[in-house]
Amino acid sequence: MTEDAARILAAHTREVADFPKPGVMFKDLTPLFREPEAFQVVLDDIAERWAGKVDVVAGVEARGFILGAPLALRMGLGFVPIRKAGKLPGDTHTRSYDLEYGTATIEVTTDAFTAGHRVLLVDDVLATGGTAAAACDLVEGAGAEVVALEMLLELSFLNGRDKLPGREVRAILVD
Ligand code: PRP
Repeated sequence: MTEDAARILAAHTREVADFPKPGVMFKDLTPLFREPEAFQVVLDDIAERWAGKVDVVAGVEARGFILGAPLALRMGLGFVPIRKAGKLPGDTHTRSYDLEYGTATIEVTTDAFTAGHRVLLVDDVLATGGTAAAACDLVEGAGAEVVALEMLLELSFLNGRDKLPGREVRAILVD
């Protein structure tokens, strides 16, 4: 099943040179999202792996929402958005992490998770791992447990897993 998902994901990934800056080969996954049959294969692959093992799906803004919300619905679970700073109303938990230049901050509402809930954390791409590590910290700081991380694509040359020691990290495609 994962082989089918990987083949389909590879066939629906577009490479764009020099985006978002010169020298970067951007992997655009929007071709997958606009093909319902292909997207469904990928969602089914992830959903079958974690059925009965997680209580909620959380995704990181913005592209983690495109994956996470339909996945959660497919699994019959709720979806929690982890957002960039200043977007969520009310009380929030907050984590900041380093970028190549500067820092980024992500947040989740304090009522998003039930204590002890098992969370599947999803995003489209694992690059340096900073976002994923901060998101794990945020979820666990809110009293829930990150069971695993599911990414569509891992850019392994950026060593993102080094920031996620001991975590179950899966990627359908590894570059
Ligand atoms: C991308 C991607 C991940 C993150 C991975 O999001 O969707 O969330 O970068 O990078 P890292 O592993 O180096 O932390 P981006 O910040 O570009 O935001 P977007 O989804 O809103 O475009």
